[in-house]
Amino acid sequence: MDGNGRWAKERGLPRIEGHRQGVESVRDVVRTAGKIGVGYLTLYAFSAENWSRPRLEVSALMRLLEKYLHDEIDELNENNVRLEAIGCLKDLPERVQKQLQKTRQATAQNDGMVLVLALSYGSRREITDAVRDCARLVKEGKIAVSDINETLISNHLYTHSYPDPDLLIRTSGEMRISNFLLWQISYAELVVAPALWPDFRKDQFLGAISEYGRRDRRFGGI
Ligand code: FPP
Repeated sequence: MDGNGRWAKERGLPRIEGHRQGVESVRDVVRTAGKIGVGYLTLYAFSAENWSRPRLEVSALMRLLEKYLHDEIDELNENNVRLEAIGCLKDLPERVQKQLQKTRQATAQNDGMVLVLALSYGSRREITDAVRDCARLVKEGKIAVSDINETLISNHLYTHSYPDPDLLIRTSGEMRISNFLLWQISYAELVVAPALWPDFRKDQFLGAISEYGRRDRRFGGI
């Protein structure tokens, strides 16, 4: 969800105003994705590297996140969306962790779209954790080295209960992956949208989905 800072700068506003507008895009995109039948939507809301931003920006983002998690429960339930999260969640401020727990519980019964927030998320860290888990299983004699395969590794990622993404959308024209779901996006289609995230609404989202629909997915075949 790139481009909040630039959106604010273009208007002479503080960066946090861009993040605030970004929350409106989150609402619009979540609602639209649920309506058109997307099964899983993962939003890269805060990376492991984002902790290095100025303290004031980090705390403002944490407050926005807490508020979103609190305010959105009714809307998520109305739209049958289940909220989940991946990442180093114990790094988050306690208030955010508690609200996350509440929102997860309050939406746990929904069986429509799963909205996954990636929070304090880093893909290399996730893969490293999975490798450690597998090494531990070998050391404890529970599996042999030859049992380590792609399925076993996938089963130890934070995303073990979700399918791999079909489509990765990056906004603001940036052509980087930035440590996001590196293992899981092996065969995802990439769409780079020029819009800054606060300007990325229903129409832009549907535009990315139709571009995906025009792609010919061969998964390495012909
Ligand atoms: C990247 O844009 C955006 C973020 C690091 C934060 C994204 C957060 C939100 C959209 C709001 C909170 C999230 C939820 C799910 C309620 P940037 O700040 O790097 O923008 P720039 O590249 O223009 O500087």
